[in-house]
Amino acid sequence: MMKIGLIGFGTIGKELFRQIQNEEEMEISFVFDIEKEKLGEIDSSLAVDSVETGLERNPDLVVEAAGFEAVKEYAKIILHKCDFLILSSSALAFEETENEIKKVCARNNTKLFIPSGAIIGMDGVRAVKGELDEVRIESKKNPKAFGREDRKRTVLFEGSAREGAKKFPKNVNVSATLSANGIGLDKTNVKIVSDPSLERNCHSIYAKGSFGEFEIHVRGVPSKNPKTSSLAAISAFDLIKRIKDGIGIY
Ligand SMILES: NC(=O)c1ccc[n+]([C@@H]2O[C@H](COP(=O)([O-])OP(=O)(O)OC[C@H]3O[C@@H](n4cnc5c(N)ncnc54)[C@H](O)[C@@H]3O)[C@@H](O)[C@H]2O)c1
Repeated sequence: MMKIGLIGFGTIGKELFRQIQNEEEMEISFVFDIEKEKLGEIDSSLAVDSVETGLERNPDLVVEAAGFEAVKEYAKIILHKCDFLILSSSALAFEETENEIKKVCARNNTKLFIPSGAIIGMDGVRAVKGELDEVRIESKKNPKAFGREDRKRTVLFEGSAREGAKKFPKNVNVSATLSANGIGLDKTNVKIVSDPSLERNCHSIYAKGSFGEFEIHVRGVPSKNPKTSSLAAISAFDLIKRIKDGIGIY
């Protein structure tokens, strides 16, 4: 039985909770949300009031669906005890957090997992990692996703993934995930566009190297949270299943 702790009980957290509970070989070990009242609808024995209390239940894996601050705050104590799967990969743009994660994983033989989230094709990007000369991603969403009310197409950011992740940490997990699989946060170029004509979250990736070039286009349906594509929970659950089975590509 794989015991899973969950941090964040919002759009993605609730979906993962539901899917995990439907699996015979998985069980929820604990759920933590910074807003306690959000946990009112679940069995009170599963709700904990801190990540530390949750970790005392010895989960095999903790899943973060809360935000980059949660990764920054809890990665160290979680990876000290067990594996950690994060949706908020933009936390890796903070050098201190990334270095701390590498150290604690090496010391405790634990792993950090990053699902492909709202994009696809990370297996291909990873395969050519050593041969990449150029990687670009353009992310376009309806202004609502950025909490804006633009009436026309507006470029919000253009620059490196590291800089973008620090300026828009809640919206650029995709470029951080792409960077982690490819040529890193400093060399990956990111453009973020707010476009009122769009109903879907659109991501276009271009990669070039000695192998040739490829493009990946995703037009994801937003979930209840307009910032979040429904693909994010789908890919996270798929990765949880592969970790449990111990096979497949991570
Ligand atoms: N990798 C990707 O492609 C991708 C795609 C979508 C979302 N995300 C990430 O996943 C996260 C969750 O997305 P969502 O749509 O479920 O968001 P949401 O806003 O619907 O839910 C987030 C939940 O986490 C809780 N929370 C916030 N900070 C916390 C903390 N420090 N500790 C514990 N709980 C905390 C909130 O109270 C809320 O219930 C986002 O913040 C984003 O960073 C990643």
